[in-house]
Amino acid sequence: MSYQVLARKWRPGDFSEVAGQEHVLKTLINALDRQRLHHAYLFTGTRGTGKTTLARILAKCFNCEQGVSARPCNACGACTEISEGRHLDLFEIDAASRTRVEDTRDLLENVRFAPSRARFKVYLIDEVHMLSTHSFNALLKTLEEPPEHVKFLFATTDPQKLPVTILSRCLQFHLRNLGPKTIARYLGPVLEQEQIDCESDALWQIADAAAGSMRDALTLLDQAISYCQGKIKAEAVVEMLGIPPRQHVFALLRAMAAGDLPGVLRVSRELTGQIPDYAQTLDGLLSTLHRLALAQAHADAIDNHQGDHREILELAGKFSAEDLQLYYQIGARGREELALSGDSRAAFEMLLLRMLVFSPEPVVQSGPAEEVVAEFEVEPEATAAAADAQSESPPSGNREPAAEMPEPPPPEPTFSSDSAPPWEEPDPADPASKPTTAPVADSLVADFERDPLVQTLIRNFSGTVLRDSVTTVQSRGSQ
Ligand SMILES: Nc1ncnc2c1ncn2[C@@H]1O[C@H](COP(=O)(O)OP(=O)(O)O)[C@@H](O)[C@H]1O
Ligand SMILES: [Mg+2]
Ligand SMILES: [Zn+2]
Repeated sequence: MSYQVLARKWRPGDFSEVAGQEHVLKTLINALDRQRLHHAYLFTGTRGTGKTTLARILAKCFNCEQGVSARPCNACGACTEISEGRHLDLFEIDAASRTRVEDTRDLLENVRFAPSRARFKVYLIDEVHMLSTHSFNALLKTLEEPPEHVKFLFATTDPQKLPVTILSRCLQFHLRNLGPKTIARYLGPVLEQEQIDCESDALWQIADAAAGSMRDALTLLDQAISYCQGKIKAEAVVEMLGIPPRQHVFALLRAMAAGDLPGVLRVSRELTGQIPDYAQTLDGLLSTLHRLALAQAHADAIDNHQGDHREILELAGKFSAEDLQLYYQIGARGREELALSGDSRAAFEMLLLRMLVFSPEPVVQSGPAEEVVAEFEVEPEATAAAADAQSESPPSGNREPAAEMPEPPPPEPTFSSDSAPPWEEPDPADPASKPTTAPVADSLVADFERDPLVQTLIRNFSGTVLRDSVTTVQSRGSQ
């Protein structure tokens, strides 16, 4: 027998086999149990979350020879034919390929005729948002006064494109993206029955990489089976998916927590050798930042689903809550930049640097300066200056830790007296540091800076950035 891909082989045959989507199942089951049947249902949600699956199950519920029920028998002629996609009264239409009004008219022409064998004629229209305006109008007439024996099941990934007139005539069900936990739990028995040996870590990598879609998860599993030939190992899945090994993300975060800029760059470059996909790396970093923030807020909120509970808790103690929020925000916004950039490694490093530079307590390098400088091939004087600054100052300590964790001693200033860090507020006594603005503007700036909110902002963000922009605004005003 020819090989059937897992995503088709493992299509749930009834509601009890569907993963997640409990909110939708509950409503459908209750309605069917009470025999309250509507004539039009709309399933929305991203790809591979169960729209077609639920529509087919619903078609069975309507037409099972044992009677309308939420538990179709899956054995009668109607159930089997629907499962196999050859039931005479189930019309599955892909709207994407039949957008013209003539197609819809042809389809609706036969609506008024009674079903050939079953109780209901069921029209399952996939990607219904692709229909033309004329097609929608043609459909609308039938939807307004549908014959008793007709059920419409619509599915779309893009409900915003549907006219409200159609929307308001349908019962709408929004399918959610499936979480990695739900996916992993569903894949477990699949692996068992397919007699495939799979490391738990590998399973979680796949569940994560599926990004909410069960179809993607099953397709990735298919791919992993071919790739691995035998036991599915985490390492192989990492290779196959081009995702960063979790250990690298942790190494990156450890270096960030220690304010170790050379360390951060070193890890980032190590990644280059192994995995080309920086967008995936960034996603890995973001999801770990999210887990760290959760761990700080409420340790019980994170599960051990990736076997890294201890590591997460430990790392969570090394960051301040503000840092995590800031890093996440910078990273999330940076995804777009990464996509647009021609050099994704450079874009990724810029993001990491931005995280460190804009951190409430700006990070300074704590490792050997030469290393970074050498990598960037900076001018020899700059190398010497950086090495000087390094030798005069101790390495910076940990950043402000989360509340429950023991506080380390406050970090020592890392800059020599003649090279003030760029974020340090300019010394008012030092004429060189005075902004060159009119006196009026100066007093406005002073007023502005006395504002407690502004003070907090200045304290929390790089002082110079804010002061410079204030000065620019004010000097423009005084011109
Ligand atoms: N909620 C779910 N539970 C279990 N399997 C699912 C679920 N959603 C999707 N699948 C799997 O993905 C495949 C495709 O699902 P489908 O319902 O066609 O997705 P779509 O939402 O794109 O219509 C199914 O055959 C099934 O194997
Ligand atoms: Mg579908
Ligand atoms: Zn049946």
